Amino acid sequence: MIRKCLFPAAGYGTRFLPATKSMPKEMMPVVNKPLIEYGVDEAIQAGMDGMCIVTGRGKHSIMDHFDTNYELEHQIKGTNKEDLLIDIRQIIETTHFTYIRQREMKGLGHAILTGRELVGDEPFAVVLADDLCVNETDGVLAQMVSLFKQFRCSIVAVQEVPENETHKYGVISGEMIKDDIFRVDDMIEKPEPGTAPSNLAIIGRYILTPDIFDLIEQTEPGKGGEIQITDALLKQAQSGCVLAYKFKGKRFDCGSVEGYIEATNYCYEHLYKQNQKKVALDQHSTTKED
Ligand code: UTP
Repeated sequence: MIRKCLFPAAGYGTRFLPATKSMPKEMMPVVNKPLIEYGVDEAIQAGMDGMCIVTGRGKHSIMDHFDTNYELEHQIKGTNKEDLLIDIRQIIETTHFTYIRQREMKGLGHAILTGRELVGDEPFAVVLADDLCVNETDGVLAQMVSLFKQFRCSIVAVQEVPENETHKYGVISGEMIKDDIFRVDDMIEKPEPGTAPSNLAIIGRYILTPDIFDLIEQTEPGKGGEIQITDALLKQAQSGCVLAYKFKGKRFDCGSVEGYIEATNYCYEHLYKQNQKKVALDQHSTTKED
């Protein structure tokens, strides 16, 4: 029902300079996989097959990553290194990628509006790839899609953060209508210390209904002179309904050095090493069968 996932990926990633001077933040590897591929995996797991990427200057490597590299394929053909490409080949074969460039960095709301041509008139997901989310069972987007099936309105993923960190996020307030689900009545982008309406911070996962595009169009630049998605969502909440969902799972802010290191350690221990063990076991059982 939700087929498309929009990835705003035009930002400069200034918190990660100099690494991001010529390399997109979204292509930074967590262990051996770029950040954006984790987001694409999550979207596929949630049933989506259209990845719409908002890019900008210097972001070509994102397009190259989700395309076949014939010379490389030829070079490693018949070696065990081919196994390392199984997952990305599967993504390329089963998923459709479209791209559009955001010419001016006018904020996340503007980046989402730039994606309108790619998304069209249907509900869609948004993933900010620098927020890496993991969960042992359903991923965060899959959890949100099943909520959308019940409520049919825009949903933002939230997490509780310490009070002294609320100024880094969009923060919501609202009535809890069910376990971990809130009906949003207020939303403030990066509130000044001491003024946050709660400690529920919006992270980089959204399901949006397409009327959001007109609302963004009517939104004036807000905090930091940028067109903020939070301001458009507040209008949507006031005229209809927006839900906030306290998701199950872990989230790492890979836009910051500390979060990136934490994510790397976590993914190495819990995803990469587990996968290596599984591959070794599979190889062992295949050898025995032979
Ligand atoms: P961030 O503010 O976290 O990303 O925006 P940034 O600007 O790249 O990073 P810093 O703060 O300078 O280190 C959240 C997401 O929105 C996208 C970014 O690419 C990121 O994925 N974004 C932001 C756009 O695509 N366009 C914009 O104009 C602003």
